[in-house]
This record gives sequence, structure tokens and C-alpha cells, in this order.
Amino acid sequence: MDIILLGPPGAGKGTQAHHLVQHHRMRQLSTGDMLRAAVKANTPIGLEAKGIMERGGLVSDDIVSALIDAELLAMGPATGAIFDGYPRTAVQAAELDTILARHGRKLDYVIELEVDEETLVDRVTGRFTCANCGESYHDRYRLPRVAGVCDICAATEFKRRPDDNEETVRHRMAEYRAKTAPILPGYEERGIVRRVDGMQPISQVTADIEQILANAQLRARPARASRSSGQG
Ligand code: AP5
Repeated sequence: MDIILLGPPGAGKGTQAHHLVQHHRMRQLSTGDMLRAAVKANTPIGLEAKGIMERGGLVSDDIVSALIDAELLAMGPATGAIFDGYPRTAVQAAELDTILARHGRKLDYVIELEVDEETLVDRVTGRFTCANCGESYHDRYRLPRVAGVCDICAATEFKRRPDDNEETVRHRMAEYRAKTAPILPGYEERGIVRRVDGMQPISQVTADIEQILANAQLRARPARASRSSGQG
């Protein structure tokens, strides 16, 4: 199954993607993470992206779509994709359709996480992640079970993102409203948008997403069963 987790900065896309990859045969494709890795490695893409990301702007469509294309090629058809932070513009949404078709895949769901703006600022400015596995934590809402030790991989180093300050977050939100939110109606017309109340506790948001995936699997089963009985 290929899904998009869509939502503004701090909506919980990364948090939920991390959960899904632990429980399903799925891989998180986060263009933000890919770009941060490129910045860290000082690659040509990283050098181009660094300043844009620090200001909270959007990196060029060509760059992020090429990153996604390469990841899909590398992971093969048997693993589901969780698109996290991509697509972010109408051009990227069209490019994703082209890329998926080229890889013989199709988009199953766009899961929109809905959260109000002041909550988002609060979440993003309190966020920190495990420096080893990337698990996401928060100064108030999600501390590691043992102080200073990652729940998932037991690493003891954590980091904060340079773009997680209030001014940049507000700019990232404005970019989301202007360029990303307008791609939703196109997916609504295709009947693949599912909305989740992202203001709920993390575990309840997870449960709602799991329910969407479970319903999808139930719906897919009769079709598969009738195909196999027709063959037998
Ligand atoms: P990116 O890395 O994609 O950042 P973002 O979209 O701004 O989203 P975030 O990672 O900030 O938030 P999230 O929704 O993952 O929230 P999280 O789960 O961490 O992009 C960064 C930059 O890269 C962009 O600004 C742009 O410059 C560039 N870029 C990336 N992709 C691009 C593209 N396609 N095109 C062009 N440019 C691109 O949660 C946040 C915090 O809240 C955490 O601390 C978490 O523990 C907590 N939390 C999560 N859920 C809950 C909950 N339900 N209740 C309470 N706390 C919660």
C-alpha cells in the first residue's frame, strides 16, 4: 500500500510514519530527512537546499521528485511507501503520479492530519529526535520513557532542527497553506482522502490511521479472493 501523510509542520507525519514502518511492510520516504542528509553531507543538492530550508521555503520540485524516484527504484515493489512531506506543490503531486505509474504503483490513500496552528508552533518548537534512529520526542508531550535514552534504539544522543524556531515555523505554515493545501481537492475528487484528528494523543492518532489501513485491507480481500477463485 502506498500512502501520503499530509499535514502542516508539526502535524505528526514523522511520528506516525515511524510507527507504521515498525508494524507494516512499509518504508518512510521523507523528503525533509533526505534533504537534511544531503545538507549534512555537503552534496550539491545539500548546498542548494540549506539556505532555503533554514528560511522555511520550499526546495525545487525537480530536486525532491528526483529524490523520491531514486528511493522508489531502490526499495522495489514489495514494500509500501509512506510519503512524508511530499508532495508539497501541485507540480510535485503531478510528478508523483508519473513516478508511481513508471514504477507500476498507485496511490491508495492521502491521510490528512488536522491540527490547529498554535498547537503546531508549540509542537515544533519543543521537538527533538533521536540522533541515531530519528524517533521523534517532545519536551512536554513525549519524553523518552527513561530520561536521555531513546525508547526505540537505546541511543543516548538527541538533536534539534535548525528550522524549528517560531519565525521559520510560521513561514513553513504559510508555505503549506499557499502551496500544499491546494493539492488536496484533486485527491478528494479521486476519493482517496481520509482525515484524522491530529489534535488527539499520539496513540489515538495511530489507532485511527491503523483503522484506515485495516479497512482498506478488508476491502481489498474479496477482490483478491474472487480473482484467485476465478483462476482456480
Ligand atoms: P520536513 O522535514 O518535511 O518538515 P515539515 O513538513 O515542516 O514537518 P515536520 O517534520 O516539522 O513535522 P511532522 O508533521 O513530521 O511532525 P512530527 O511528527 O515531527 O521539511 C523540512 C524542510 O525541508 C521544508 O521546510 C522544506 O524547506 C524542505 N522540504 C521537505 N520536503 C520538501 C518538498 N517535498 N518540497 C520542497 N521542499 C521540501 O511531530 C512534531 C512534534 O510534535 C514532535 O515533537 C512530536 O513528538 C509531537 N507530536 C506529534 N504528534 C503529536 C500528538 N498527536 N500530540 C502531541 N504531540 C505530538
